[in-house]
Amino acid sequence: MTLKVILTRRWPTAVERALGERFDVVLRSGDRPMAQGELAGAMGECDVLCPTVSDRIDADIIAGGTRCRLIANYGVGFDHIDLAAARARDIAVTNTPGVLTDATADLALTLILMCARRAGEGEREVRRGDWSGWRPTHMIGSALKDKVLGVVGFGRIGQAVARRARYGFGMRIAYHARHASDAANALDAQFCPNVTDLLAMSDVVSLHVPGGAATANLIDAGAVAAMKRGSFLINTARGGVVDHDALAEGLRSGHLAGAGLDVYPQEPLVPPALLALENVVLLPHLGSATAETREAMGMRALANIAAFAGGAPLPDRVA
Ligand code: DGY
Repeated sequence: MTLKVILTRRWPTAVERALGERFDVVLRSGDRPMAQGELAGAMGECDVLCPTVSDRIDADIIAGGTRCRLIANYGVGFDHIDLAAARARDIAVTNTPGVLTDATADLALTLILMCARRAGEGEREVRRGDWSGWRPTHMIGSALKDKVLGVVGFGRIGQAVARRARYGFGMRIAYHARHASDAANALDAQFCPNVTDLLAMSDVVSLHVPGGAATANLIDAGAVAAMKRGSFLINTARGGVVDHDALAEGLRSGHLAGAGLDVYPQEPLVPPALLALENVVLLPHLGSATAETREAMGMRALANIAAFAGGAPLPDRVA
């Protein structure tokens, strides 16, 4: 029997076509997010549900999964899916690791450079028509060479950011993770078992931890206060890792020089306190947004669905 697969959003055309050749794929006519009621209904109608980070697959939705046996997430992060509820109903969950590492690391570097060189502020000044020409004291930023990049979470993406910063920009690397990593040796990276020590020594802090309860508000008022004066915070991980009121206060007071954010706790809502600040770069969750990466994510999800259809072990099973 052909599996019925529901995609909650439109995927790259090549992936939709490839899926359609093998499965009974339900595509949506528009590209708005599904309401919670629609998601619950979909769980009862399909064999495989393919959500994204913009869907909340909570216990109530999973309870609707009378037919669904696989949730094949389009993305690496899965903090929007209640894994325990899925396990309890014997619904497998897969993600798409590895294929978005480079794109996300590139975007973290984009934010680091934009913050350090005040590129967002400069661009806005030009567009407003306020630029009065070159002068020695105009819009002075910070050099990156020999500065310390503190990487919080040293998985695939954290390591890829560290490599770019070390080899591309001559930064020194320190990192916080549960355990010291062999990958740090080649980068001469310093392991900080205590995150507060890392925050205190870093000129730039870049977050690469998974979201969810374990990392909620990791960067709270105390952590902002612990950060080095004049440093930058970069977040391409999950919005919930940062307390944005505390961050806004740290930026307003001048304790922090700037922040670069790609993710927010309740997307697409951007905390208003941040919108009002000049020294923040705000991007709309673009970490994996390259044509190559978005297609690779879809093909990875397809590989998981194909394995499921064939009764083979799922390559990227997380529950
Ligand atoms: C992910 O994959 O988790 C990203 O946040 C969306 O690409």
